[in-house]
Amino acid sequence: MLKLVKYPDPVLARSCEQVTEFNDELRALIDGMADIMYSSEGVGLAAPQVGASKRVLLIDPTGGEDANAMLALINPRVTWHSPEMETDQEGCLSLPGAILQVPRSVAVDVEYHDVMGKQLVRRFTEFEARIVQHEVDHLDGVLMIDKVGHLTRTLVMKGLGNNR
Ligand code: CO
Repeated sequence: MLKLVKYPDPVLARSCEQVTEFNDELRALIDGMADIMYSSEGVGLAAPQVGASKRVLLIDPTGGEDANAMLALINPRVTWHSPEMETDQEGCLSLPGAILQVPRSVAVDVEYHDVMGKQLVRRFTEFEARIVQHEVDHLDGVLMIDKVGHLTRTLVMKGLGNNR
């Protein structure tokens, strides 16, 4: 049974390993991640957030409203960032209670494998692009608090410390 991992667990700061085998173990990981994402009312989740240091992420911009909206990206690689950026609020299941204004590209192109190991390319825009960039950051050990200024970061970490 997988469990949601929260800051400051060191697995969240680690760079994750490429997936090389597209097998039952991978499918079980994705199923377990989906359960946690939906029960936590998230719109995205990265494998290190359940303690698995693997390059796997899920997104569902509908938060489960559309049963077909969930997408699993394995070994995702952003090959293009739009120069146009937008700053908007973001939360993170591993940083409960923190809402930050984070700048992101409005669109990204991502190369990834699907759950069967097929190589795909897809352009994500707007909210989807924001979720994908947030989750890809997790695979490189980067959290949204790493994308904001020092003062905001200090305040957020203090708040998280007080909630423990
Ligand atoms: Co997150």
